Amino acid sequence: MCIRDRIIGELGERYEIADWIANWQLSVWQDRIQLVRLRRDIYVTPDESTHGMWSSRWLFVLAAAGSAVGLGNIWKFPYIAGENGGGVFVVAYLFCVALVGIPVMVAEVLIGRQGRQSPINSMRLLVQQSEGSKAWSLIGWAGVAAGFLILSFYSVIAGWGLYYIGELASGGFTGVDGNTATQALAALHSNPILMAVFHTVFMGITIFIVARGVVSGLERAIRWLMPLLFVLLIVLLGYGIASGGFAEGFDFMFALRWESLSFDGLLVALGHAAFTLSIGMGAIMAYGAYVPSSVSITRTVMTIAMLDTLVALIAGLAIFSIVFANGLEPGSGPGLMFVTVPLAFGQMPLGALFGGIFFILVSFAAITSAISLTEPAIAFLVEEYDASRSRVAVGLGIACWLLGLASVFSFNIWSDVYVVGEKTVFDSIDYLTANIMLPLGALFIALFAGYVLPRVTVMSQLGITSESAMAIWTVALRVVAPLGILAVFLYTIWPSG
Ligand code: PHE
Repeated sequence: MCIRDRIIGELGERYEIADWIANWQLSVWQDRIQLVRLRRDIYVTPDESTHGMWSSRWLFVLAAAGSAVGLGNIWKFPYIAGENGGGVFVVAYLFCVALVGIPVMVAEVLIGRQGRQSPINSMRLLVQQSEGSKAWSLIGWAGVAAGFLILSFYSVIAGWGLYYIGELASGGFTGVDGNTATQALAALHSNPILMAVFHTVFMGITIFIVARGVVSGLERAIRWLMPLLFVLLIVLLGYGIASGGFAEGFDFMFALRWESLSFDGLLVALGHAAFTLSIGMGAIMAYGAYVPSSVSITRTVMTIAMLDTLVALIAGLAIFSIVFANGLEPGSGPGLMFVTVPLAFGQMPLGALFGGIFFILVSFAAITSAISLTEPAIAFLVEEYDASRSRVAVGLGIACWLLGLASVFSFNIWSDVYVVGEKTVFDSIDYLTANIMLPLGALFIALFAGYVLPRVTVMSQLGITSESAMAIWTVALRVVAPLGILAVFLYTIWPSG
């Protein structure tokens, strides 16, 4: 046996690379024996990704939490909870996070780390390794499409956040009442140019960061800004409590009023669980590819899911306290946060300063989420065409920016252009992605992980050694998560529902 075959044999046992060999070439580089990805001139071992690696578990937690915590928690969760009647919706959402969100998130990180490439190529590779049908790789493609669609409207809402930094910091909301705050938002909505400008700024910042690579820069920023955002949310909650609306806000969020349970509300809760955890479209899968092998996936995912849920609950409690203290309408729609938060800071001492900072932090949380929305597509294009990251990022950004204009216009000149039912372009894209594409993505990821992935892969990736732990995985991904998603879908399309 020649030395090359011996090494392949040895590595093959260690890394289960037998069927990788087709795409990889063994080479000696700087005195180290390495596997070289054939099409690209980048040297990596099977335990690394060609796009780089998170330098530690902590950095992965920050990046994934940065992806998860975003407008979904602070802007979207309170307003859809308000629209869907509060309590029952919140409880349904918590169930979806626990029963569907966490298992699927574990599966995504696992698939990413096993594949070590963009979601599309990781899926391709794993399908090959597990001798499954090629159709499974559609999960990767659908995810790229969902990420593109989500980013288009996400950037528009984040643009409102950018605009509000200046409005609050300049004292524009000092001492205002609910009415004035509502009108200020209406004025922004009726101004497509202003909205387009801030949409452009947000997309520009995101693409600038994405072009420079995921790892560099992200760490320093998230390390400080995420905890600070948390602190300011607590300040906001403190204000909510002081303003006398807390009891009502708490009751609205947690009292089970069954009459407000609607089947569509259930689907929105499921969709939001996926949206807020960034699952079902490959963002977490893409980030999983950069996770070092020593990191415990299950523990890390639990941390991220808990952080994400905590931020949403605190934001919800704060916002509903303010809503009830000021006689506002909990179900008033996507503008909810942009009315309540300026109103609250406007009444606080040093409110202009803290309000400005709050919107800076929200914008930052949005940027770290937006970055992750682009990663599946960017990583794939880089792998496939050997293109430079920055060129791919700019191309994607421009296309997504253009589509985003349709969401800008949904609030003004196209406000009566309906795509499906009574939904504007913005509402339609939001509904299609969050409530249909992400749950379906999550469903197929659960099925793939539960039924197709080889047992040895799961056990080695998750460090499972006991049969009982394996049984939990099997039940969660084969039965609980898929049936949960299917049940919600069936109820929603049931004619009498
Ligand atoms: N989780 C992000 C938020 O809550 C949005 C997001 C969805 C990011 C899907 C990536 C993928 O704001």
